[in-house]
Amino acid sequence: MIEPLILPDLVAELPAAVRMQRLVHVLREHFQCGAVVLLQRSEDCLKPLAAAGLVQEALGRRFEIASHPRLAALISRKEPTWFDPDSPLPDPYDGLLDSSPGEPLPVHDCMGVSLYGEGRLWGVLTMDALRAGTFDEAARRELQALIPLIEACVRVTRLEQENRTLRLSRTGEQPGLPAIDEHVLGHSPIITGLLEELSVVADSELPVLLSGETGVGKELFARWVHSNSRRADKPLIHVNCAALPETLAESELFGHVKGAFSGAMTDRGGRFDAAHGGTILLDEVGELPLSIQAKLLRTLQNGEIQRIGADKPIKVDVRIIAATNRKLAESVAAGDFRADLYHRLSVYPVPIPPLRDRGNDILLLAGHFLELNRIRLGVRSLRLSPEAEQALLGYQWPGNVRELEHVISRAALKALGRNGSRQGIISLEAAHLDIASAAQVNEPVADSLSATPGDGAGELASLRQFTDACQRQHLRAALERANDNWAAAARMLDIDPSNLHKLAKRLGLKAS
Ligand SMILES: Nc1ncnc2c1ncn2[C@@H]1O[C@H](COP(=O)(O)OP(=O)(O)OP(=O)(O)O)[C@@H](O)[C@H]1O
Ligand SMILES: [Mg+2]
Repeated sequence: MIEPLILPDLVAELPAAVRMQRLVHVLREHFQCGAVVLLQRSEDCLKPLAAAGLVQEALGRRFEIASHPRLAALISRKEPTWFDPDSPLPDPYDGLLDSSPGEPLPVHDCMGVSLYGEGRLWGVLTMDALRAGTFDEAARRELQALIPLIEACVRVTRLEQENRTLRLSRTGEQPGLPAIDEHVLGHSPIITGLLEELSVVADSELPVLLSGETGVGKELFARWVHSNSRRADKPLIHVNCAALPETLAESELFGHVKGAFSGAMTDRGGRFDAAHGGTILLDEVGELPLSIQAKLLRTLQNGEIQRIGADKPIKVDVRIIAATNRKLAESVAAGDFRADLYHRLSVYPVPIPPLRDRGNDILLLAGHFLELNRIRLGVRSLRLSPEAEQALLGYQWPGNVRELEHVISRAALKALGRNGSRQGIISLEAAHLDIASAAQVNEPVADSLSATPGDGAGELASLRQFTDACQRQHLRAALERANDNWAAAARMLDIDPSNLHKLAKRLGLKAS
């Protein structure tokens, strides 16, 4: 009897994730199988919520239903589906079992069932056993009998989610409940703690200041805050302050009236008008020109904007989220950022932790990017070798999640190039990841020196030649890592973007 093991968890006060995890473990023990996975449907994908027997990175994947025929078969009927051990259909977990990572699933038994809540498809439960014959007639009947209990577990979890969503839309003004944006991936305590904190902040109307290194996900977290706020069904307007030329910034943000300046042919609202009722994301806020900072301060203080050329200010109802890579307190000390504006914006400062502090989330995110690449490249299975996992976990990730995304995409292409066939399991090896060399970015300086004039003749390069060679190499590495985004490279190097451009010209890395 398995019911006595599941029932108590239904009534216990447990976090949803723990309840789901316990459910899959109990089922795995009871049915004596290799893997049990509970997947929730999200648009065209199924997303693992809890898994027993799969490698860690599998939890970061989304399985596109259209490209996984077994999953498509499961959701096409309400009764349990059993797959013959000889079934030619590819298994979504090929290479992802933790008992034999990287190996194709041998001939095995597989069954699963679609799960419903209030008449709507919620997701599926899958079971894989490594011994053919495990899921005999009796096991299949037992799964059928357990469906109501499994669906009850899911229902409790869903009710908890809905409860939270209702709390967010507490005024009842939003018939369409805000969609909870699920795209922030991470199970590490530092990220789950952060999301918990952010869900409280999101619910308030406070301005939020997100800070953190390049590529940590500031924009993503900003979107998460908006979509978990009471303004979720109103606009989120994204303003990249670094891309606003000073001369146009004021009109762009606050709008202008007809005739305010030559070329102002009609009245035109700005981004604040567009964001009315919703949220404005001031991205790269540290780059905002001082003259505009003063105007922004007024908006924050009085909740009003003044269009250029207008006599009277207009009231606006906008929630502000700001994001920056800069240490704004230092910018204030250096006189580049107004202290009063800084205090207004940083009512609730939220530092986003760098990827290197998120432990196994590195593998989870890698799994997510692997799955995206698998679909893009049309290969059967793409996974990490144990050495590659270790390399990813040991690297410092100065470019954070964005860098990880690019490393995985490049490695997938390289591995596919070497492997040739799209049908087998393609394993990304440590050598495919170009992080080993990047980690030792300072070491090959001696090599680049040998390329400097004079070295061939056995002479020492001048100090100037030596430092230029070092700088050239370091700039190239930063630009490569930032994917030729000069502003991001400047931040990595901790220098002003205009100085980076000047230096690159002097070193011959950029045409003047
Ligand atoms: N926890 C996460 N889960 C899924 N994807 C993530 C996560 N964090 C970051 N990403 C992805 O990494 C990429 C970089 O994130 P984002 O643009 O939000 O970073 P950023 O902090 O704004 O960087 P920058 O300072 O360079 O502008 C995006 O593609 C984003 O979707
Ligand atoms: Mg950004």
